[in-house]
Amino acid sequence: MTIECQALTRRFPGGRCGLDGLDLRLDTAGFTLITGHNGSGKSLLLRHLLGLEQPDAGRVLVDGRPLAACLAGTRRRVALVFQEPEHQILGLTVAEDMAFGPSCAGRKPADYEPELRSALACCGLAGFEEHLTANLSGGEKRRLAVAACLASQPELLLLDEPFNDLDWRGASELLAILQALRADGIGIVVVTHDLEKCLAHADRLVVLDGGRVVRDAPPAELWAELPALGLRRLPGGLDQLPAMTWLKAEACVAG
Ligand SMILES: Nc1ncnc2c1ncn2[C@@H]1O[C@H](COP(=O)(O)OP(=O)(O)OP(=O)(O)O)[C@@H](O)[C@H]1O
Ligand SMILES: [Mg+2]
Repeated sequence: MTIECQALTRRFPGGRCGLDGLDLRLDTAGFTLITGHNGSGKSLLLRHLLGLEQPDAGRVLVDGRPLAACLAGTRRRVALVFQEPEHQILGLTVAEDMAFGPSCAGRKPADYEPELRSALACCGLAGFEEHLTANLSGGEKRRLAVAACLASQPELLLLDEPFNDLDWRGASELLAILQALRADGIGIVVVTHDLEKCLAHADRLVVLDGGRVVRDAPPAELWAELPALGLRRLPGGLDQLPAMTWLKAEACVAG
């Protein structure tokens, strides 16, 4: 599937422009990183991709069709892990939270429970089913938000700052999950400031500034430009790119 933003524009009262004629095409191929300064429009962009916010001008096309014409289907095919996990955790317990999506879709527990168990195990939350979501740690909440998205078996997974609250082991495990999903043909889009944790895995680096895409290229092509773009200065030359990962060495997948 492809999602294309054409001249996407979003203004707020007072004249502030959140998105300023943004053009971007995302598809289910590979691993895309989106970065940019605080307030450059990254989270706002993701919310527009799922119709959670409406643009003032421009449009979002899904496989060439206006998003409004295929909104429900798009929300089944595309999953978003929010920047703040609290925004998507709805259940009192982990099990209730995981069941929320499939039960709203009219599915029966016997049908979806194996998927939920496997998504929880995948995110290191096996055995947490009866835990109160309010008592989970920050990292556990983030894992739960990812697990709930995985349970819906999306074609495209969007993650907004997924490494926040995760320690090295948690970030490493999440990267391994994303690598495996990508190998299964699921498109991965990660919004992050933490390039040193995951740049080695990206096929594409998109840089936003002022609500527009200012760079869109493979990381190797942008490496030398990153400091000039005001982004984190990464140590060393391009030969250091393969080291820009928090994935445990033994879990590294080539490519
Ligand atoms: N509902 C809103 N009302 C007013 N301004 C908003 C609203 N939503 C977003 N903005 C503004 O739009 C701009 C882009 O916000 P966005 O949350 O997308 O930034 P971001 O790139 O995700 O930043 P960060 O890296 O800090 O998460 C910001 O200046 C923000 O204040
Ligand atoms: Mg954000």
